[in-house]
Amino acid sequence: MFDTNTRTIVLVGAQWGDEGKGKLVDVMAERADWVVRYQGGANAGHTVYIGDRKIVLRQIPSGILHPGVRCAIGNGVVLDPESLFEEIDALIADGVDVEGRLYVSDRAHIVMPYHKLVDKESAASKAIGTTGRGIGPCYEDKVARRGVRVLDVKHPERLRALVEKGVEHANGLLKRFRSTRTADVEHTLAALAALAPRLERLSDDVGLAVHRAQQSGAAVLLEGAQGSLLDVDHGTYPFVTSSSTTAGGASIGVGIGPRTIDATIGVVKAYTTRVGAGPLPTEFDEVMGEHIRALGNEFGAVTGRPRRCGWFDAVVVRYAVRVNGLSSLAVTKLDVLDTLERVGLCVGYRINGELVSEFPGDIAALEGIEPVYEWFDGWQCSTADARSIEALPAAARAYLDRIEALTECPIRYVSVGTRREQIIG
Ligand code: GDP
Ligand code: IMO
Ligand code: MG
Repeated sequence: MFDTNTRTIVLVGAQWGDEGKGKLVDVMAERADWVVRYQGGANAGHTVYIGDRKIVLRQIPSGILHPGVRCAIGNGVVLDPESLFEEIDALIADGVDVEGRLYVSDRAHIVMPYHKLVDKESAASKAIGTTGRGIGPCYEDKVARRGVRVLDVKHPERLRALVEKGVEHANGLLKRFRSTRTADVEHTLAALAALAPRLERLSDDVGLAVHRAQQSGAAVLLEGAQGSLLDVDHGTYPFVTSSSTTAGGASIGVGIGPRTIDATIGVVKAYTTRVGAGPLPTEFDEVMGEHIRALGNEFGAVTGRPRRCGWFDAVVVRYAVRVNGLSSLAVTKLDVLDTLERVGLCVGYRINGELVSEFPGDIAALEGIEPVYEWFDGWQCSTADARSIEALPAAARAYLDRIEALTECPIRYVSVGTRREQIIG
């Protein structure tokens, strides 16, 4: 994907998250110099493998397993230092050398213990089924201009003033939720002080570092978290996360100009999944849902929550192609469909008898809709060892061709298993 003219690439999820972004970043990082996260935080769970060993990355970019690659966490990420250090220590224990090649933006906002508390105690968070990692409350404080940034940690007085504001706000909310828990300024400051020296060592001007890398001709991969339909503007609001998950967010969340981005890749599963509440137009009935969940091992990488499953929705992906300006698609988990007799592909929705092919802004319009399917013969043989499009069974190729036609986007990669080498492209 990287070539002389394509030096900076954004990779995004083009459904509801968990599309296999970690696997694709790990594959593409072989030719990258930098991998940078630009939004979200420890709500993400990106799975990569070292040989047989499964590693789930939450805040550290999925390029970290490639020794020569520099990894950075951009200003758009909400950073949970405690969880970051756990992740770093786990990687070190697995023999990954992290020292000197992981950077954290000095402008990134810090997820405080009270953000996690508010997220866990809020009825609204429960209704959405958030990950409870404090993501929404931290972004709220950022926008309300009372957030704590990495660079504030060096300034004790400023830090105390910000924490006082944050704690006061959080306690007001907790009282309203009738929670028995409260946040405390001194505890919060002490917890942060214990993490501060390690955090300061990683802190850097990531926007400037990436800019310089781009100027020197480096290959830069910007790794999205969550998925386009969870974007705070373009997703199924309010059943979304609190950040800009789409490609536009990459420029803001790293601090580089949009004109420096040369290509955008959207990762999609060969079917659809979603964790948490909110619309999923092509959702299977219980029996088929169980079946695909078992075949695809569809349980949250971090929370273990069962993922809801459905057929591939070309309306959704065509929409994601548009809002991200996708150059190409990476289709993952094709192998999960290997044993099916037939495979469905949603080509439109019937709403009040009318055929709709554009994804609506108001999710109320999705109530009572009927997905319209095209049916494909299953290929009923293993695709796990295919390493070229030609090696795929004809029925699988026909299915992929139709996805390209309906989404109006070329397929650049096809993934046929969890391992690095199980990739076509
Ligand atoms: P991410 O959040 O987008 O990085 O995706 P997750 O890691 O949360 O979930 C994707 C899951 O699918 C992980 O368990 C991956 O190991 C697995 N996976 C990725 N690509 C493939 C594939 O092509 N086939 C199969 N069977 N599993 C895959
Ligand atoms: P990756 O990067 C799938 C979902 C949650 C919930 C909603 C809001 O691994 O693809 P939040 O904690 O962000 O406020 O929760 O978003 N969600 C994800 N779903 N994959 C993710 O990340 C997700 N991150 C958040 O389940 O519905
Ligand atoms: Mg995930």
